[in-house]
Amino acid sequence: MADEPLVLGIETSCDETGVGLVRGHTLLANTIASSVDEHARFGGVVPEVASRAHLEAMTPTVERALAQAGVKLSDVDAVAVTAGPGLAGALLVGVAAAKAYSLGLGVPLYGVNHLAAHVAVDQLEHGPLPKPCIALLVSGGHSSLLLVPDVASDVISLGSTVDDAAGEAFDKVARVLGLPFPGGPHIDRVAREGSGDAIAFPRGKMDDGTLDFSFSGLKTAVARWVEAHEPVNVADVAASFQEAVVDVLTRKALQACKKYGVHDLLIGGGVAANSRLRALAQERCDAAGVRLRVPRPGLCTDNGAMVAALGADLVAAGVTPSSLEIPADSSLPITTVHV
Ligand code: KG4
Ligand code: ZN
Repeated sequence: MADEPLVLGIETSCDETGVGLVRGHTLLANTIASSVDEHARFGGVVPEVASRAHLEAMTPTVERALAQAGVKLSDVDAVAVTAGPGLAGALLVGVAAAKAYSLGLGVPLYGVNHLAAHVAVDQLEHGPLPKPCIALLVSGGHSSLLLVPDVASDVISLGSTVDDAAGEAFDKVARVLGLPFPGGPHIDRVAREGSGDAIAFPRGKMDDGTLDFSFSGLKTAVARWVEAHEPVNVADVAASFQEAVVDVLTRKALQACKKYGVHDLLIGGGVAANSRLRALAQERCDAAGVRLRVPRPGLCTDNGAMVAALGADLVAAGVTPSSLEIPADSSLPITTVHV
């Protein structure tokens, strides 16, 4: 194992400064500095605040990762960084830092796709990915269904949200219910006391024949319902909203498995931490004979280990490193696994 290259991964696409260190599929360190508290009073991530926080957190977070792994900076053999998609100014901080480490250490640089990294990270917990697999990525910034023949080279988009991301819907509905930001974990918690079929909220695009999602109609329906029924049973509203989201997500994910004859489903992104999503996905996968992989919550939310994991795959595949000229690309398409 010690012969495998030591890869440093840097993630700054949103509000988490993440640094990971891996050798092959072995996780050595995963350190995070989050600016989420600084955004809470705005009810959403403020890009300028996030960029400034990344700048301040970058070096200390790298230092903490090195200490956690018990290695020196000079031991690093390659640097991987999220090149996109994400917030332009936030990405820029990570990309600039990664270029500096790469140049200073004289080691190769790999600019990687954030979404592909969310898929690759599962290997740190559950070993090599089956080829192909279907991946459902659900977070505050993205809701996508992907066909993944090979995470290091070939990722195909099957569908994505046409409006709000799943996590965004959780955060907006939480706000309507007076719960703190980010709202996903609070809805998850509160929903345990309520009934998922108390209120029949709409399932956008449920059986429209596509693998796309839509959550903005649901969000509006919840807001209208709350307005019309105040005071409301928050637990029932939270549980019924959550049920509508996870019903559509799991249904479409399994439709994708069936359509492409794939028997392995991976769920990643911050919303994959949702307990009801995990439970319903397991139930429906069992019924359909599909194997389910979900990384532990700390690897589902944005982190540096996921970037290092994909970087290690690229090194292993002998991919040509990125040039030191690579830009941060806020709308990097998923089909571009590395730049
Ligand atoms: O992947 P992530 O950390 O960052 C982005 O790339 O957006 O995802 C954050 C999102 C937030 O919208 C948050 O509310 C949601 O993931 N989230 C959850 C849960 N934990 C985090 N949503 C539902 N249930 C949860 N337990
Ligand atoms: Zn993400």
